[in-house]
Amino acid sequence: MMERTKELNLLVRHAAGKTRKRLNEENRYVMGGKMQTVQIMEETLESESNEIALYFAMSRKAEEEGHTEIANYLRDIAMDEAWHAAEFAMLLGKIKDTASNLEIMLEDEIKTEKEKEEAAKVAISEGNESAFRVFTWSMYGERNHKEGIKEALLKLREKVKSTMTNH
Ligand SMILES: [Fe+2]
Ligand SMILES: [Fe+2]
Repeated sequence: MMERTKELNLLVRHAAGKTRKRLNEENRYVMGGKMQTVQIMEETLESESNEIALYFAMSRKAEEEGHTEIANYLRDIAMDEAWHAAEFAMLLGKIKDTASNLEIMLEDEIKTEKEKEEAAKVAISEGNESAFRVFTWSMYGERNHKEGIKEALLKLREKVKSTMTNH
């Protein structure tokens, strides 16, 4: 009898442990970004993205200083960092099918164009002319991206439509 109770207790404890473990895992999934690996990947995507900017800027500096070979190498590293960042963006589920990607980025470009315009106003009101210049220059860049993505979306939709009517 004693043996049986002990055995049963062990079984119960084992089952409880398993359930607790499963619940913990499910909770982590429900909370999404709270999972440690996911959190680290989000942070890594951010830091890799920062490195792209820094390496590109450093490459330009090296070019200005006449160190062409170093400038080219720094540019290569920037591209490597971009690929690292891209891998994490994919792992984190941020990349969809092309039509959805274009729609997401169209929204993003519309938003960033407005933000750059606002930022340029702030910069000029604070007398920061170089910031004003770069905000304005990149605002036009975002505007071009916006128009380009719109065009790509239209072309993609036409392509889908024509393949649908051809079948
Ligand atoms: Fe990296
Ligand atoms: Fe952009």
